[in-house]
Amino acid sequence: MTSPGTRRLPVVGGNWKMNLDRNASRTLLMGLRQRLDGLDGVEVVVCPPVPWLSDAHDLLAGSTLHVGAQNTHWEPSGPYTGEVSAPMLRGVAEYVLVGHSERRWAGETGAETNRKIRAALAAGLRPILAVGERLEESRAGRTENVLHLQVNQALRGFTAMPPEIILAYEPVWAIGTGEAATPEIAQARCVAVRGMLAERFGEAAAQAVRIQYGGSVTADNIAGYAAQPDIDGALVGGASLDADAFTAICRAVAARAG
Ligand code: PGA
Repeated sequence: MTSPGTRRLPVVGGNWKMNLDRNASRTLLMGLRQRLDGLDGVEVVVCPPVPWLSDAHDLLAGSTLHVGAQNTHWEPSGPYTGEVSAPMLRGVAEYVLVGHSERRWAGETGAETNRKIRAALAAGLRPILAVGERLEESRAGRTENVLHLQVNQALRGFTAMPPEIILAYEPVWAIGTGEAATPEIAQARCVAVRGMLAERFGEAAAQAVRIQYGGSVTADNIAGYAAQPDIDGALVGGASLDADAFTAICRAVAARAG
């Protein structure tokens, strides 16, 4: 339960995934700046593909919009062809997604997620840690076990909750499918995740953590999530590629805070 008086600034992330060429990316970045710069009551984080991060950094400089990367390697440098390290990202990004299910599907283990979080924090990046169950796990009634395992693996070895970390509850079955979780289910899962953090790090620390919902969030369904007391914004995939839709999502989330 959210204790009265707890105020967490909601955060909306736009995860562009592997989409948009350079021109389209620049157009979207400029459109977002125009529409969202200065919006109070929400933190906005735009996560373009790696080659466009430095454009994002330059085009959003001096605005209230933040730049995030979609992934990082855990080593600071070395013989890892095609990989990008957290200290490299630090020059152009403030946030980094870690543990996204599309990375877990590509083979990322819980231990690697943990190493990536450590690398991100060491480099001064703010990790957005995604957790979520697959359809068969949900059907088997294993959702909370899966979330517990993912949270504990990702945060293994931490004795205090790093305040830079944001969590995103993203049921895998809801990502890119149009089958969004109901706001009530998303709220219940965010409460469960907060409870797991409270078990590990204490109630006060858990209450301070921002937990987003992600999975088929649109301009049409965001109000339902924004109204939930334990959902602190959204991680948006498909709808983040459309300046108007993403703007409407950010505004709806900001409106709840106001
Ligand atoms: P979606 O993606 O909004 O397209 O479902 C969400 C995500 O993967 O973060």
